[in-house]
Amino acid sequence: ATLTVDAHQPGAAINPAMWGVFFEDINFAADGGLWAELVKNRSFEFPHRLQGWFEVRRKNARGTLTIHEDSPAIPENPHYLRITSQAPGEGYGVGNEGFRGMGIRAGEGLRFSFWARRGPDASVALRVALRGAENRLLTEGSIQVDKTAWTPYSLTLNPTLTDPGSRLELTLEHPGQVDLDAVSLMPTTATHGFRPDLMGLLRDLKPGFVRFPGGCVVEGHDLANRYQWKRTLGPADARRPMPNRWLDNMAGEGRFAPDYQQSFQLGFFEFFQLCADLGAEPLPVLSCGMACQFESGEMVPAESLDPFIQDALDLIEFANGAPDSPWGKVRAHMGHAAPFGLKFLAVGNEQWGPEYLDRFQRFEKAIRARYPQIQIIGSSGPWSGGADFDTLWAGMRELRADLVDEHYYAPPGWFLANAHRYDHYPRSGPKVFAGEYAAHPERPAPGTPRPNTWEAAMAEAAFMTGLERNADVVRLASYAPLLANVDAWQWSPNLIWFDSLQAAPTPSYWVQQTFSRNRASRILPVQLAIPPSATATAALYASAAVDDATGEVVLKVVNAARRPADLDLRIQGVQGLGGTARKTVLSAGLADENSLGAPPKATPVTSDVSVPGPAFSQTFPPYSLTVLRLSMK
Ligand code: AHR
Repeated sequence: ATLTVDAHQPGAAINPAMWGVFFEDINFAADGGLWAELVKNRSFEFPHRLQGWFEVRRKNARGTLTIHEDSPAIPENPHYLRITSQAPGEGYGVGNEGFRGMGIRAGEGLRFSFWARRGPDASVALRVALRGAENRLLTEGSIQVDKTAWTPYSLTLNPTLTDPGSRLELTLEHPGQVDLDAVSLMPTTATHGFRPDLMGLLRDLKPGFVRFPGGCVVEGHDLANRYQWKRTLGPADARRPMPNRWLDNMAGEGRFAPDYQQSFQLGFFEFFQLCADLGAEPLPVLSCGMACQFESGEMVPAESLDPFIQDALDLIEFANGAPDSPWGKVRAHMGHAAPFGLKFLAVGNEQWGPEYLDRFQRFEKAIRARYPQIQIIGSSGPWSGGADFDTLWAGMRELRADLVDEHYYAPPGWFLANAHRYDHYPRSGPKVFAGEYAAHPERPAPGTPRPNTWEAAMAEAAFMTGLERNADVVRLASYAPLLANVDAWQWSPNLIWFDSLQAAPTPSYWVQQTFSRNRASRILPVQLAIPPSATATAALYASAAVDDATGEVVLKVVNAARRPADLDLRIQGVQGLGGTARKTVLSAGLADENSLGAPPKATPVTSDVSVPGPAFSQTFPPYSLTVLRLSMK
């Protein structure tokens, strides 16, 4: 077979931010995930006020744990815990289980903080301990609570042992009473609150953008449960938690997590900060006044949509406004005087129907009038491929959306079959944002997660060559979902699985990373010529682009067949191509997965190959993604 790249006339510019990530608080991706806080229900505001907490009673200890809300420390989150110890034995108090156990590392410092006031009788010594398996003490400290008025306290703990399933214990060693609220335990290694190993993996992806705060969480089960960005600003202790929409995923996986709340400690300010830390474009999604149409389908009447539209306008000011503008001031006050440089705004998640088009139009008009430079993203509905999809697209064209968000979760075969999906999309009108996609293999057994196999990742890679070949139409793309806690997941597959201490980037992660780190500037047309004798067995997918910064031709080839593919490569229209090329190959068995604590089976391997000139041969291994960066001699 022959692969010809026409480099005479580079085509359209590829969006430098094209490969991004989609963050949603699903699978404990925020609390218990990227957000490094270890204490669950830290403000005693979960519907079951003591959820995540348990009584600690050491040797003959006696006392009570009670919840109160009179004269609170934080009026917005009024409930607090009172520990009354009558006969402390070896300690009476309370423990916190964390998010399916706290991951504690020897040598990693922890900042423990809380609000407290003592009872009327005497000052109390609060013992703070971290314990692991078999009750092993990992570290401890003590704080004297000596004021009867609410006061913030803090202490640094230095664990000497590692344990993935630790718990926090707060006990009194003498009779007495103490009120506690806003309890926090944060690793000192967490910059801006983000868990360092997960942040490292995100950084390595070099994402062009971050879509946040999610898909269904934006819409909510009902409107009361929708994501409201203004509720996530200001002092962290004063943010009111809310039930996470993924607390039960009956439709998808049939899994329950009754303790799943959104604490909003990772709120909109932190999302913008995350984007700044990653060097990624922020891409927020806002409620358009429609709750999830698969659930309650509740809608605010179109005539009452103004507060929702105002939220969008205020968000743009929050992100981009001068530090003395009303919302820019809020941002500056939270610690970021410089604007965040917001360019995109998505109106609604997977919405559909005439009600959506009506609402989109109202948003579009208001945003365009005030902020004409903002690119507005509309929805193409949930993945169905049916008539509704076409109707929505037609509506989006008419209503001048800048981009339309398409979502696809389908078997690997669909991704292979759709690698040419965008070859014939109209070149005018709204561009495509492939905002959620993932190849979904079958589950090995009911109740188990769909596996993140190499077959799925390879199919995504084949599809992504199609996205890149059509980068004039497809401007942004992100796999979904991004993160999943192995002990608390509601959806599968996901890009990165983690537990309390470790993370396992999946084969799909390495595909995303390989595309993202081999981005180039302008598309080059590619042509695959497969001889009739090989058409039945060949499964080749390719894209090419030129990197203006280095002058390299960047070629991506997927061989989805079970035999190696020998290709004659012809790079036409470039002078002096040859010498040494950088080659990155990912290949594995179709069923291979990367798992926590095991050596990864599918990761990129990079080497140098010698290229004699613009015409040369290469063998592409079975079931592989290969990137060749071809330079000038
Ligand atoms: O990615 C998981 C969910 O899939 C998203 O929340 C939603 O947009 C889609 O249905």
